[in-house]
Amino acid sequence: MYGCGEPRRGWGPQAPSPMLLLSLLLSTVPSILLGEETRQVSLEVDPGWPGPPQNLLHIRAVGSNSTLHYVWGSLGPPAVVLVATNTPHSVLRVNWSLLLSPEPGGGLAVLPKDSVQFASALVFTRLLEFHSTNTSDEEAEPQGKPYPPYSLASFSWNNISGSLDPATLSVTFRGHPVHDPTKAFANGTLAFKVQAFSRSGRPAQPPRLLHTADTCQLEVALVGASPRGNHSLFGLEVVAVGQGLDCHSIQKQYSIDDEYSPAVFQLDQLLWGSPPSGFAQWRPVAFSQKQGSRDSALSCQISPLRPTVAYSLPQSPIIQAFFGSQSNVCTFNLTFGASAGPGYWDQHYLSWSMLLGVGSPPLDALSPLVLGIMAAALGAPGLMLLGGGLVLLLRHRQYSEYQSIN
Ligand SMILES: *[C@@H]1O[C@H](CO)[C@@H](O)[C@H](O)[C@H]1NC(C)=O
Ligand SMILES: *[C@@H]1O[C@H](CO)[C@@H](O)[C@H](O)[C@H]1NC(C)=O
Ligand SMILES: *[C@@H]1O[C@H](CO)[C@@H](O)[C@H](O)[C@H]1NC(C)=O
Ligand SMILES: *[C@@H]1O[C@H](CO)[C@@H](O)[C@H](O)[C@H]1NC(C)=O
Ligand SMILES: *[C@@H]1O[C@H](CO)[C@@H](O)[C@H](O)[C@H]1NC(C)=O
Ligand SMILES: *[C@@H]1O[C@H](CO)[C@@H](O)[C@H](O)[C@H]1NC(C)=O
Ligand SMILES: *[C@@H]1O[C@H](CO)[C@@H](O)[C@H](O)[C@H]1NC(C)=O
Repeated sequence: MYGCGEPRRGWGPQAPSPMLLLSLLLSTVPSILLGEETRQVSLEVDPGWPGPPQNLLHIRAVGSNSTLHYVWGSLGPPAVVLVATNTPHSVLRVNWSLLLSPEPGGGLAVLPKDSVQFASALVFTRLLEFHSTNTSDEEAEPQGKPYPPYSLASFSWNNISGSLDPATLSVTFRGHPVHDPTKAFANGTLAFKVQAFSRSGRPAQPPRLLHTADTCQLEVALVGASPRGNHSLFGLEVVAVGQGLDCHSIQKQYSIDDEYSPAVFQLDQLLWGSPPSGFAQWRPVAFSQKQGSRDSALSCQISPLRPTVAYSLPQSPIIQAFFGSQSNVCTFNLTFGASAGPGYWDQHYLSWSMLLGVGSPPLDALSPLVLGIMAAALGAPGLMLLGGGLVLLLRHRQYSEYQSIN
């Protein structure tokens, strides 16, 4: 197990050292000064397909000299292919007869082929459930005994066209098992909400991950499904595919407590090679209530990445269509919650979010409130010594506010 990012409570004992504060303050300056890049984002469902819904979502994000293509789909287990190109004119070509055939290789391509700088993918293969007890053997099975997992390849999904919201650039895949003998999903759904962004920002809902126009957010929510035990923990099995992945590439970043992410000090990152390449990024926190708050925050543990042979996993036609038969992939498990504390059992609700993107992963800057507190604590001379540029920036802002009042 990698260290688990148990959301910590309280403020006193975890107060960061002054050195950490200083280095964080210095490291935040460049990201504040960066200009924001925007992209022209368009969403299309089942491009060029006249038949019944196939739930293929193409997100095309065009910048001044690059285009990002995100292809999400629920043919097979939910999956996404991310392709970055160095031209604003690249396009996705879907050969539907190939894609829907038993040999989908070549069914998806981004053209022109030589504009492709980078391609990677994630597949969400199984929903895991564990019987947690505080008496179980913590060493051998930290989450408890596994129940038989739900294979997401044998889920049935809604018609996503109805959920496409051009205003928020979002689409939701809602699914439940095709065969559900125990009726666990009689009132339950597993939802994958995908959202693209045309500029950088931060959602109102925790964990408030900082996004840029180069990223796309996924929120996974399990709602209303009956757990098989009174203290079930849930998890997701995730498969990472792509060049540059060496199955050792989970990085942890630490930050100080901030109003954007109270009591969560860590950011986990899966990197496809050294930046700027692809990344997935998340805070090791999930929520057991729709209005995510500190009281409903669950820890999120990640298992070590394990090299896996692709044929042992549920086949994803989307991955095969783009990559052909990829032989080496990495698999990892995310598990949400612990036997004590808040859990899915409270409200039969669980949500977790991640960002997927290319380039350097967004780095959290300190919020204005925290900067204000630090300014008060360090005093203006200290601040000037440390981050002259920052002070100038703040002064400039004040100055322009005065101007606008006059
Ligand atoms: C893309 O454009 C940005 C700014 O518009 C520039 O800094 C960068 O070098 C360009 N990249 C390429 C590959 O031309
Ligand atoms: C799709 O692929 C098949 C097999 O390679 C080919 O025969 C067909 O022409 C392709 N269709 C389109 C629209 O390109
Ligand atoms: C397990 O946890 C429950 C509630 O969290 C507690 O009441 C019980 O004593 C614990 N049992 C053991 C064996 O630690
Ligand atoms: C899927 O949803 C779209 C938009 O709501 C609708 O136009 C279409 O008829 C639906 N298709 C099916 C097969 O229900
Ligand atoms: C599903 O919801 C209905 C109405 O809310 C309720 O009567 C039924 O018992 C629920 N079924 C399960 C399996 O929870
Ligand atoms: C769940 O809790 C109820 C009442 O608290 C108990 O009767 C039942 O046996 C428990 N079920 C399991 C699987 O532990
Ligand atoms: C994920 O959990 C499942 C169920 O416990 C297990 O079969 C599988 O080996 C785990 N995968 C990894 C990479 O740990």
